[in-house]
Amino acid sequence: MEAFDKFYKKTLEERREILAEYAELTEEEQAFLASTGALSLEKANHMIENTIGIYSLPLGLGMNMRLNDKEYIVPMAVEEPSVIAAQSSGAKLIAQNGGITGTTTERKMIGQIELIDVPDTKLAIEKITANQDKLLLIANEAHPSLQRRGGGAVDLVARTVTTMQEDELLIVHLLVDTKEAMGANMINTMVESLAPELEQLTAGIANMRILSNLVDDATATVSCRIAPASLATKTHTGEWVRDRIIAAYEFADADIYRAATHNKGIMNGIDAVVMAFGNDWRAVEAASHAYAARTGSYKPMTKWSKDEDGFLLGELTLPMPVAFVGGSIAVHPIATLSKKIARMESAKELAMLVCAVGLTQNLAALKALVTEGIQRGHMSLQAKSLAMTAGAEVNEIEAVAAYLQETKQMNVMAAKEYITKLRQN
Ligand code: MEV
Repeated sequence: MEAFDKFYKKTLEERREILAEYAELTEEEQAFLASTGALSLEKANHMIENTIGIYSLPLGLGMNMRLNDKEYIVPMAVEEPSVIAAQSSGAKLIAQNGGITGTTTERKMIGQIELIDVPDTKLAIEKITANQDKLLLIANEAHPSLQRRGGGAVDLVARTVTTMQEDELLIVHLLVDTKEAMGANMINTMVESLAPELEQLTAGIANMRILSNLVDDATATVSCRIAPASLATKTHTGEWVRDRIIAAYEFADADIYRAATHNKGIMNGIDAVVMAFGNDWRAVEAASHAYAARTGSYKPMTKWSKDEDGFLLGELTLPMPVAFVGGSIAVHPIATLSKKIARMESAKELAMLVCAVGLTQNLAALKALVTEGIQRGHMSLQAKSLAMTAGAEVNEIEAVAAYLQETKQMNVMAAKEYITKLRQN
């Protein structure tokens, strides 16, 4: 990864050259990166309804990521300044301490069938259990190609829930191994085709037939262990920083207002990677926040503690319904390119990388917050962003940003006044 040393100091063109060599990009792929919209209007027109154009976002590379002893260059699509800088600095700190360890469960996605007006739910559950094989067969016949790829519907679980009107609902979960896909369409097809048989068996009415985004049988877990010495700053010992990071986690655990922000910082990294890989980031958001609230109260997604040697331990487990194939992944050229850049080989590997970025992002944010505060690191990019908001042309941005930082006037009005002055000279 030496080619990427001081990547942030290079020009845009130099960065693209380094990347092209590293990832052996074709001329066409290099052209995608050089354009502002790799996705063609024609394709976009077929992706959604009422297309009128393409909305672009900056695509950057997170550095220094070491996960399960593999080094990654991490593509991230994000509009917020500092997310990629935080990623690179957090990952560097973790890499110096041996990197991140990641694991995944099997990838079983969930399809839900809600049965209402079931006369005897206990009897219905017994019948479902007794007919499990037949039900799985029906589900698999609805999408036979998935079984050919080694996946398919693998289990059925029935349970009851009680509504606010005290009605008892019978809920059936169909567990589907979707292999490398996220499988939303497959699962929805399966549950729709299973519903009539379940209505017959239970004498109830199938109301909702749709996947659940809370895929707690498709989780990824990542962890890191950091020596206190590497957390030390000019003004604080490593032990002090470690203990403050743990205290920051405890604050988030005790207070939902802080938990929301703590988790937003984690999702800053997660969403950026999920988007770069052309995946459904709303699904990942929904899964992550629901999982954070699974005990009944909303909690921080990460956990920070110290071990008996005084090392800082970080851990993150999230449901990760990401896909390596299907959906817009094959359609969006950047999604394909991201796989190549990250040398990504499977959905499970992607799930671990996404979580690793979440953990890294959180460490970087907490470390900054408990030491110098978040603003100092944000200043330079924020100043540029303010300059652009105030209408600075490309050749004026640097000067306006420098002025805002020097005069400590981080606001659009000051930027506008300075732009006017610049143009008068
Ligand atoms: C900003 O987008 C994210 C942070 O607020 C996260 C945090 O407070 O942990 C810095």
